[in-house]
Amino acid sequence: MAEVTLDLRGIPKSQAYSELASHIEAVLDGIDDDIAEMATVSALVHNAFGFLWTGFYRVVTPGKLLRVGPYQGTLGCLEIAFGRGVCGTAAAERRAVVVRDVATFPGHIACDASARSEIVLPVIDSSGDLIAVFDIDSEHTETFDSEDERGLAQILSRFAR
Ligand code: SME
Repeated sequence: MAEVTLDLRGIPKSQAYSELASHIEAVLDGIDDDIAEMATVSALVHNAFGFLWTGFYRVVTPGKLLRVGPYQGTLGCLEIAFGRGVCGTAAAERRAVVVRDVATFPGHIACDASARSEIVLPVIDSSGDLIAVFDIDSEHTETFDSEDERGLAQILSRFAR
């Protein structure tokens, strides 16, 4: 039965992401709808690890503006300009940004004052266009590293198929 929410806290990250990626593929089998996929990825990633905020900012004006999309957690900022904050930096530079302590990131946008560390990855479609960024906030410092980046990039690769 694919339709369950996994809790993967306490198991090694590489194993957790491998299980999570397979689970997400099973749940979304046959679905080709960005909003349904973004909502489902947000819910499953968020609850697997117990993050503070997990979700997507969609590109609404390429090169200029991101607007909040499906997410889980406390109220997110509605719009972020390319180049602003962690999300806008990841969008402008089309690369993953891992922030071990948000206090050290100039221009970090604090939608929730409890956020301490963050990871943002670009979401690319099958034409190679940036359609969104995927953002996760943790209430602890140093939550994210290259294993999270790798595991999440694998999950997001479905948007490029
Ligand atoms: N911290 C982000 C803003 C989005 S919220 O965390 C949900 C940033 O600096 O871009």
